[in-house]
Amino acid sequence: MSNIEKINVNDYQNIVVLTGAGISVASGIAPFRGPGGTWTEKDIDECATARALARNPQKVWDSFAFVREKSNKTEPNAAHKALAELEAKHPNTWIITQNIDELHQKAGSKNVIEMHGTIHRSQCMKYCSEPFVDREIKFHKCPKCGAPLRYDIVLFEESLDPKVMEQIYEVLESVDLFLVVGTSGIVYPAAGFVDMVSRTTKARIVIVNLEKLNYRGRVEQINGKAEEILPNLFAF
Ligand code: APR
Repeated sequence: MSNIEKINVNDYQNIVVLTGAGISVASGIAPFRGPGGTWTEKDIDECATARALARNPQKVWDSFAFVREKSNKTEPNAAHKALAELEAKHPNTWIITQNIDELHQKAGSKNVIEMHGTIHRSQCMKYCSEPFVDREIKFHKCPKCGAPLRYDIVLFEESLDPKVMEQIYEVLESVDLFLVVGTSGIVYPAAGFVDMVSRTTKARIVIVNLEKLNYRGRVEQINGKAEEILPNLFAF
């Protein structure tokens, strides 16, 4: 990693980091795509859509149970910790994460926007109450009304919370350093953020990913493991 030029974070006012499943791989949570990826083994239409949930809530529950189970036990890795340190030293830092594992918060990051919700809350499918903290791995029913439970996450075919999107667009409007870590850049709307930032701001855009990705626009790519690159990337 010594040949990677450090980013002097003091040169930037507003830092935003978009993260995806790749940042949690070193914590033992499988990614969605690529080797060992959940969607290389399971069918999205059967396991991760609004229609799948309506057909078979337990199947959807069981498909994501590994994320709850692993992240109940695992710890943030060096990449999560490097981003927490970045925020501690440069408070105007925001993380937009597609991850549902809460590992950024566990590492100490406070400015975290969870785009896709969290696996650590459940919601009654009859909406008899607010989502609640839930660590149970096995599929179970709502303790209040007995309806099936679902995770408080955004499935395919579901809309993202408009308040969350508003907050995301607000932080991206003034970004001058945009880091994109461990995401394949396939799932929208997150997949469109690089292009949007590239067109609408003068921000420096740096992608940190295991493999080279096919981005248009002005981006710098650093290829390798986030947990090895991020701890050495920032100069304060
Ligand atoms: N360091 C950096 N990058 C890594 C590492 C690592 N240690 N390991 C894997 N990667 C890269 C992979 O090469 C891949 O490009 O991380 C990326 C992970 O991509 P995905 O598995 O597609 O994860 P993500 O982009 O977060 O998925 C988006 O898809 O199913 C949905 O809702 C789910 O939020 C998820 C969304």
